[in-house]
Formats: sequence, structure tokens, C-alpha cells
Amino acid sequence: SQTSSSSPPSSSLPPVSHFIGKKDNIVKAGRMTKMVNGCRDVLVLYHQGQLHAMDMRCYHSGGALQYGDIEEFNGRLCIVCPWHKYKITLAEGEGLYQAVDDPTSKPLRKHWRSKGVKQRIHKVTEVNGNVYVTLNDSNEAIESDVYQTERYRTGLLEA
Ligand code: FES
Repeated sequence: SQTSSSSPPSSSLPPVSHFIGKKDNIVKAGRMTKMVNGCRDVLVLYHQGQLHAMDMRCYHSGGALQYGDIEEFNGRLCIVCPWHKYKITLAEGEGLYQAVDDPTSKPLRKHWRSKGVKQRIHKVTEVNGNVYVTLNDSNEAIESDVYQTERYRTGLLEA
């Protein structure tokens, strides 16, 4: 079935919503991971009054984003992957990097650039203190999809 049994009927919830947890608990912990719909490991983050949801494993090499710090780069909030420090915007899942325009200039001038959307972002909804995720089911392949297969769900990568 497409509909989560844990979703109460509510007109303010998107049609396919999966219960993640109580907002209080997510706010307290700052983050929560959950397998959604038996098929996707999702990380829900609470930061500066906002909830965000994204694929749990980093698009680069499957890093455990739930242990990443949240920092601002170029005015955009990012999770920093603990494995190789890739920066991923919370709102769009874009990979940010610093580029050097002219390698001969001194001092080197660096600019923040986007590699485009690399991490799949999901929709979060809060109703009556409960937090729900609606999976982003766009057909367009996103790099983080690679780390959502059975192989990466064994926990081996988190040991
Ligand atoms: Fe995340 Fe490499 S796995 S930066």
C-alpha cells in the first residue's frame, strides 16, 4: 500500500505521508533517521526553526550525514558530510564547492559554486506536533539514489 498506516486522516497532510516522530523529540535531538516506506533511509533535521529531510547517505560515497555539522556557506545552510566534508544545501540538496577562477592570481580568489542537485530532498510536514515525510518520487535520477539500495542498508558502512 502507498499510504502509511501511521498517518492520521488530515486534510493538511500531503496524500502519502509517513510518520517520522514527535516534533519535540526531533527538536531536542536536532536530527532523526528513519527508514520510510520500507525502502528509503531518510534524515530529518531541525535547524533554526525549520525542518528538513533528505536521503541519509551522502551522494559522494555514502557517508553518514546524520553525524554531519550544519554550517552556512555563501549564505546557504548546508550539512557537512563527516566523511570528506562535502557540503550539501539543506533546502535543495545542491552540492557546493569552492572554485578558483584564475589559478595564477595572488591571493587566490575563490567563489562558491553549485554542482546542481546531488542529494534527494524530501518534503516534511508537521501536524499537531507530529512530523511526516513525503518521499520525493521524481523520476529524475539524483546521485544520492545510488546509496539507497539494499547493499548500503546493512549498516556495514556505519560501523
Ligand atoms: Fe560524503 Fe565523501 S561520503 S563527502
